[in-house]
Amino acid sequence: MYKSTAAAYSNLAFVKYWGKIDHEINLPANGSISMNLSGAKTTTTVEFSRDFAADEVFTGSDAQAASPAFTARVSKHLDKMRQMANLYLPARVATANSFPMSAGFASSASGMAALTVAGVTALGLDLSERELSILARSASGSACRSIPAGFAEWKAGNSHETSYAAQLAPPEHWAIMDVAVVVSHAEKRISSSLGHRLVEQSLFWDARLESVPKRLDTVRAAILNRDFETFGRELETEAISMHAIAMTSSNTELKGWHSGIYYWLPDTLELIMAVQNWRSDGLPVYLTLDAGPTVHLICPAEHRDSVVQAVKSLEQNRADRQWSIIVSEPAGGAHTI
Ligand code: PMV
Repeated sequence: MYKSTAAAYSNLAFVKYWGKIDHEINLPANGSISMNLSGAKTTTTVEFSRDFAADEVFTGSDAQAASPAFTARVSKHLDKMRQMANLYLPARVATANSFPMSAGFASSASGMAALTVAGVTALGLDLSERELSILARSASGSACRSIPAGFAEWKAGNSHETSYAAQLAPPEHWAIMDVAVVVSHAEKRISSSLGHRLVEQSLFWDARLESVPKRLDTVRAAILNRDFETFGRELETEAISMHAIAMTSSNTELKGWHSGIYYWLPDTLELIMAVQNWRSDGLPVYLTLDAGPTVHLICPAEHRDSVVQAVKSLEQNRADRQWSIIVSEPAGGAHTI
């Protein structure tokens, strides 16, 4: 029977993937470093059978039929596996996330990593972790970092075969937490694909590219040495650097002329400023942000409750706020169930 179920966690980048040298197969402009998030898991079942007329994709715990666009994206990825196995059977795919779609987690990272592992296992292909990471990357760049367990580094490479993620340290290496503050559940307005395509519009792009290799060295060493202060300062500066590129990526691709892309909302900025105050009050917490308004607060595990408390007090400053908090510890890699 050609059927398998796999799970994978989304990941949070401390050094960001922002900008590509190949948009078709997702070759990044620079390397990146991330941690898998226990609070953001995708579970996916893939079954291939002659009995199915065409690929079908169902999402969520209530198995809703997926949109034609998402189904096409899944089919395109399954085609690569069918070609590898030389077995051209239609598939039925059921996939569900443990987290809300619009919460600011890269659902394509956990989703494409779980689809990759379930698909190849269902087809009886025996791939190494590196090969799985390469395959996942070709579907969604950041998905390659959800294959290894714990902390991962994506070596940028310069070809399909040389661009993949490998484990930097296992999940139990370091007890740090991500307290994700979801300030809005609205549908994301600007895709990360557009952001990746516009980086060269930024006046600061060359400067960012030049700075990343040193930052990768610093963040890698800080993780391996469990040096929280160095780690925190780098990851926060890095997130702001990525957003500075976005905010200065002028374009006409959005309706009308835009001087740049703003992924932040007013609440995002309020949290950024609050974190600076919490640190001056002695709380060890730093922040990072992906291509959306969710603020990810990183702290040592023993300070998690104080961070959650600080966020709740800030939320209650205004009656109209409806934030959600999703707490994650370092999680395992993509695996079959
Ligand atoms: O994998 P994509 O195309 O959604 O790009 C992810 C981009 C960021 O989340 C902003 C950064 C990263 O390294 O994950």
